[in-house]
Amino acid sequence: MAFTYFFRDMQTLEMIRDYALPALRTKRYINVWDAGCAMGPEPYSLAIILRENMGNMIFRNVKIYATDIDGSNLFQKIIESGEYPREQLDRIPSDIFNRYFARVGETDNYRISQDLIKCMNYKKHDLLSLQPVKSDFSLILCKNVLLHFNHEERVNVIKMFHENLLEGGYFVTEQTQKMPAELDGYFEQVVPNAQVFRKM
Ligand SMILES: C[S@@+](CC[C@H](N)C(=O)[O-])C[C@H]1O[C@@H](n2cnc3c(N)ncnc32)[C@H](O)[C@@H]1O
Repeated sequence: MAFTYFFRDMQTLEMIRDYALPALRTKRYINVWDAGCAMGPEPYSLAIILRENMGNMIFRNVKIYATDIDGSNLFQKIIESGEYPREQLDRIPSDIFNRYFARVGETDNYRISQDLIKCMNYKKHDLLSLQPVKSDFSLILCKNVLLHFNHEERVNVIKMFHENLLEGGYFVTEQTQKMPAELDGYFEQVVPNAQVFRKM
């Protein structure tokens, strides 16, 4: 099973909140792609940050396309149910946990709230196919995935992201990932100390 957990990278979520969200909230349709989403903690953490900082009305315009190659064939069921065992939810700040999670009967599982489940669209997808799941994204998040690819694959995947972002849309990856030199002129780095890029 892929390594991931809720609120794994709070710093990146805060960067999205501070730098991308003001532009996102002005759009009528806010399409977000979480590429390499594993079994859902990352796209659901992002959904919570957007929901918390946009308010309910604007959040209704958000659709998160969560995709993964998923060798286990388990991710779709988990993400669509929005149900996770309690021990996987330990790192969620308690006020957020109380607002968005409800215990499932007498079990040790908790289900995330319906408005977050409703905004999530899961699709099994191989990034190396270089086929986008959609176009006109306002934000693409791809973390801890590109490191598995060789240099040429990384360049091609990031180019595909660029082509399918709206003008001024955001691409976010992990701190240790640098933008390949071949892609000079495609994006501007929004903050010097984080891998948050805006399409030029
Ligand atoms: C370490 S997990 C990262 C999960 C999440 N993004 C995070 O940072 O917590 C890496 C994920 O990349 C997915 N992956 C690997 N190769 C892929 C590919 N070619 N296309 C789509 N997903 C891929 C794996 O299945 C796995 O779920």
